[in-house]
Parts: sequence; structure tokens; C-alpha cells
Amino acid sequence: MTSRIRRVVIRVSKAGLTCRDPEPPDVCGALAHGTTGETTPRERHSVTLRDGYRFRRDPLEFIEDCARRSETDVFRLPWGAWCVRDTDLALKVLRDPAFNSGLSGFFGDTLPTRAAQAGLGRAVRETVRAHVPTYGHDMARAVDGIPAVSAWPMTGLMLVHRASADLLLHPGVPASLGLLLRRFVRSGLVRSPRLRHRVQAEAHRLRLVEALTGHVAERRAESVRAPAPRDVLDAVIGACPEEVTDRTAAQLYIMLVVAIVGPLGYTVAWSVLLACLHHRPGASWPWPTDWITREAARHRPVAWMVGRRVPSPARYGGVDLRPGTTLSVSPYLLHHDQNRWTDAQRFSPERWGEPAQHGPYLPFSAGPFSCAGAAVAQTLVTATVTALTAGARLSVRGRDIRTVVTDASIPGPFELQRAPAH
Ligand code: HEM
Repeated sequence: MTSRIRRVVIRVSKAGLTCRDPEPPDVCGALAHGTTGETTPRERHSVTLRDGYRFRRDPLEFIEDCARRSETDVFRLPWGAWCVRDTDLALKVLRDPAFNSGLSGFFGDTLPTRAAQAGLGRAVRETVRAHVPTYGHDMARAVDGIPAVSAWPMTGLMLVHRASADLLLHPGVPASLGLLLRRFVRSGLVRSPRLRHRVQAEAHRLRLVEALTGHVAERRAESVRAPAPRDVLDAVIGACPEEVTDRTAAQLYIMLVVAIVGPLGYTVAWSVLLACLHHRPGASWPWPTDWITREAARHRPVAWMVGRRVPSPARYGGVDLRPGTTLSVSPYLLHHDQNRWTDAQRFSPERWGEPAQHGPYLPFSAGPFSCAGAAVAQTLVTATVTALTAGARLSVRGRDIRTVVTDASIPGPFELQRAPAH
């Protein structure tokens, strides 16, 4: 672990990178984009003040310490859920039909069947994939528009949003709707520690839901359907069964926007930050971009924990689990398993040139409920970092960088300097 990176937790209570995730109580909405699962009132009582304090001070170190000290392969998280310590058992949990049948936690009950969920995921992925050829070009233009010194990680989100603006909403939609979407993205797409920001973000979200609901109704009423989705909203509407209301379709669209723009923007932010911190300021990086982005997603996976609901009484890792409890798997822990990764704590893009050094790699989770857009996401992150480094040298100002763990693991604020390469 680099000493230049401090880790702090932000107190949050509701998940953000997916609108559907229930929250770990009291301590933090710890999970990204995956599913945390709800905790029962009884579980909530298990959070001690001391654990809460230690977790807030340094969440990743706290989780590593819990895993190290645990005598069983499953240990208790501060918000009451359970987390699998053992790597093999963790991989089993993500693949075991006992935990991965029925509706996925990402979509929850917004859609009636798992088939509808999977169909929607596929439809959106194919729409995003069709946009890949123009994304690099749009991103180059977006990068041209950022100042020489830019504020991150927000710039990462805004770049991804700008380069995918026409993909998210095609150019024919009313400009006011595009503006509402932009404001919503600007609210950060993760749960803010500040009440004022949370209230503002929720206000933006509600305004967007209202406007989108009307727009969905209009699109559904259009007699002529486009031969192929014009944007992600068309893909969502086309994949939703008829009984899904306009409002639910609007909410599903927002979930997808959060799921696409949030982790892409924050993974780009981690990539540039970590590469800058681990190389001479202002010099060109010695690693292929693809290695950097893969290693950033290993070293600091944005989705640092995913959860599964325990469906029936089960004994796992030496612990009896009641139905309804949440069993979590931490990609962060698996990516730092010293027995599976060489020099696991070091940010080391070179490892991607040596496949033998790979351990379990789960930035997109694994199993039936894993990310529907994993391959295309990797392409887009790499295209974004490539655009940022084209003809330029990057360096970060300030060496004391924080990790903020909310419902995702994201870098704290930093400034990126982009100077022309000579
Ligand atoms: C770096 C970017 C991304 C990361 C790190 C990421 C990560 C994840 C993770 C961890 C999950 C939850 C898996 C689980 O609960 O086991 C997930 C679900 C999902 N992701 Fe992504 N994702 C990214 C980008 C995308 C993109 C670009 C798309 C769309 C093209 C996408 C679509 C989805 C969908 C539809 C699901 C729900 C899958 C289901 O429940 O069936 N993601 N993602």
C-alpha cells in the first residue's frame, strides 16, 4: 500500500452507484454498483462504536484487519452483514445458484423476471458497444475542453458524460432533458457525506425522474419505432415488458446511467491518479494504457464489495447464516490476497504483461449477476485514459491522496495537470 494514499470513509447510509441497493446501516453504504443486501434490525445492533470509528478512519485497512484476525472464513462487517474472507469460498458464493438465482439485487424488483433483467442488461450493453467507434473521437474532443489543471474525480465523471452524451440521450431530445441529466451526473453519482449535497442530489434525481417519465410516455406513444435504439433510453424502453410503467422505465434508465457513467468515471480517475503517483511527474508512462487501467481496477476496485442475500438457513465458512442476512464478497480483499497475487499491495501495471502473476480478478464481480457491460467498460476506460495521455504528460498536484469509501471506493479530490508533451 503506498504511503502516499490515505484512506478515509465518508459516513453514508444509502447506496448511490446503483439506485437499487439497500444500505449497510449506521456506518456506511459500503457497496458499489453490486448489491449490499439489507440488514435486519437485529444485525444493526451488532455495530460497535469502536468498530464504527475504526472503519471510518480507514475502511480498507479495517476490512483487511478484520479478515486477518477472523478465525472463521466468514467475518462480521460493521454494518452487520457478513463478508467471506477465504478466496475460494468467495468465488463459490458468487457462482453458487443458492445465492444467485431469481432476481438480481442490482435490478431488484423493478422488472418482473430474471429474463427481463438479463435482456435489459444485454440491450444496453449492445447499444453502448455500438457507440464504441465514436467514443474515442468524442472523448478526444471532451479532453480538449478541460483546463490545464482540472479537479478530479469530478472531471472523470464529466468527461465520460460528455463523450457519451449522445449515447445516453440522442441529439433530438429536448435540451432541457440533457441539462437535467448533466446536473444529475454532476451531483457525483455516489452518496455524499454532506447532507446539503445529498439533498441537492436527490432534488436533481427527482426532477430528472419527472421529466424522463413524461418523455418515456412520448417515446412509447410514437407510432414509428426506430430500427435500432437511438440511445440508452430507447434500449431501456425496448427491453421493458409492456406492464412496466413509464416512471419505472425512467428509474431503470437512471440506474443504468449511474451504473455506466459512475464506475467508468471513477475507474478513469483511479487510473490516472495511481499512474501519476507511481511514476516521475511529467514523464511519459512506461506502461501500456490497458495495463494501467487493469491494474487500477485491481488495486482500487470501485466496486469494492458486492453482496448476496442468504435465501435459506445455511452454514458457510464455519458460520450459521440466517435467511435474509447478507453475505458479501470483497473484490478489494480478493485483489489483495497475498497468496494469490505477487506483491499484492503494490500498484504494478507490469504484472499484466506476466499472466502467471494473476490471482482472482473481479472488478466486475463474477457469476450470473456479474456486470453485463464488463468488456465494453474496460474498452471505454482505456479509451478515456488514452485520450487523456495523447500528446500530453500528466501529473498530480499534492501527494496526500485520500480514498473515500462510500457506496463505492473512489479517490478523494485531487488536481491533475495536463501539459503538452515535447
Ligand atoms: C468500470 C466500469 C464498470 C464497473 C467497475 C462495473 C461493475 C459492476 C459490478 C461490480 C456489478 C454488480 C455485480 C454483482 O452484483 O455481482 C455490475 C452490474 C451491472 N453492470 Fe456494471 N460496471 C461497469 C460498467 C458498466 C457498463 C459500461 C455497463 C453497460 C454497458 C454496465 C452494466 C451493468 C449491468 C446491466 C449490471 C447488472 C447486472 C445484473 O444484475 O444482471 N456496467 N457492474
